[in-house]
Amino acid sequence: GDPLSSERPSLFLCSFAYLTIRDRLPTILTKVIDTIHRNKSKFFEEHGEEGINAEKQAIALLSKLRNELLTDKPVIELTDGLEDADSWNEYLQRQQRLQGDQEPVSWFTSPWLYVECYMYRRIQEAVSLNPPISNFDVFNEGKTQSFYESQKAVMTLCTFLEDIQKNAEKLSPDRLSEDFNKLLQISLWGNKCDLSISAGQDNSQKISPIDALASLQPFILVNDSGMVWSSLMSSQRAGESVDRVDIVLDNAGFELVTDLVLADFLVSSGLVRKIYFHGKSFPWFVSDVTANDFHWTVRQTMAANHKWMSKRGFQWQNYLKVGAWSYHDHPFWTQPHEFCDMAADAPDLYSRLQQADLVLFKGDLNYRKLTGDRAWDHTVEFSTALQGFQPAPLCSLRTLKANVQVGLQPGRGEKLTSRDPTWMTNGKYAVIQFYSPKPV
Ligand code: F6P
Ligand code: MG
Repeated sequence: GDPLSSERPSLFLCSFAYLTIRDRLPTILTKVIDTIHRNKSKFFEEHGEEGINAEKQAIALLSKLRNELLTDKPVIELTDGLEDADSWNEYLQRQQRLQGDQEPVSWFTSPWLYVECYMYRRIQEAVSLNPPISNFDVFNEGKTQSFYESQKAVMTLCTFLEDIQKNAEKLSPDRLSEDFNKLLQISLWGNKCDLSISAGQDNSQKISPIDALASLQPFILVNDSGMVWSSLMSSQRAGESVDRVDIVLDNAGFELVTDLVLADFLVSSGLVRKIYFHGKSFPWFVSDVTANDFHWTVRQTMAANHKWMSKRGFQWQNYLKVGAWSYHDHPFWTQPHEFCDMAADAPDLYSRLQQADLVLFKGDLNYRKLTGDRAWDHTVEFSTALQGFQPAPLCSLRTLKANVQVGLQPGRGEKLTSRDPTWMTNGKYAVIQFYSPKPV
């Protein structure tokens, strides 16, 4: 993207970005270290001496990382030789060139988006440099716990879908679009449940996700759901189903269930033929979905002691078996690149998205990457902030947790700031923001 089009937020003292790096990230690292230590006997000792050393080594690397962060040391190259290491190191050199060669790129002098992503990649390095534990997911406990704590809400949601399906024959097009809207909003608010914002404290859904919708409506600052629906309708070829919808997933736990239920509705109602899910190839931003989380969630849903919940689980397993659903990951999703760089940096992924009729981007981090995490004026059009990223009609479903928001009516941002100064970061507000490269 054009670095001059808008400034990247700087890490001025007390900004949300600054506090993330100063407080939230070290807290997350401390928890990771504690998790590895606590799991010593459970996971590592079974590998004998090698496992015990791996635990010590990983903890030493993570403590060093924490210290580098806290004392604003230079950001250093990756040494694990994994598939994506070269591209991370090239990115670091690029940052260094942008910043000028006098000062090294360091934690507090770099763009927030970059160092935050980099921390998760360094955690991965610490684990992957110790082969007996290289598959250990340091965030697994939190993700599974949040799934279990949301059980009641999951059951309510599965029962809701069951009711929709029972009446499927008599569904009028209006009713279908109404149900779609509801499930889209449930998936939107599911994004409230992420663990990185609370540094891993709480991310479960305790109240009924359906009853909550009406009272949450006023907090949706941009609601393009009508356009999303029209776009889907216009992609139907001669009365047939829409070929493919892609969902770029965000968090595991309750949010993932809301995405699966939305995807289930799209397929079971005959609206869409195929769903591609995109997840992360290693543990990321505490609660993001990996392949393991995805399949674990489907299995847990199947095994549930609740009729409609386990029915959904079996249905999901079957969608995966027959190819109506598929899970994909790509190294690009765990890099710090803004999405306007995707066509150049990950052309294979870009052309895969081009084949979709609609791409849903879940969550806050995806929104930051869609908009390049710049300090855009709030009235700038979403299409401008995308800076040429337009693989297919796309929609961001995001609750606001970072200092960027575009596409608002003039004066709206100022009004929000005067009423609720932390509106951009407190997770209370949300957007359903759509863009299509072709007229809808
Ligand atoms: O610091 C808060 C934060 O980590 C943001 O950097 C990030 O955008 C967000 O939380 C993660 O939220 P989400 O899971 O919605 O992407
Ligand atoms: Mg996330």
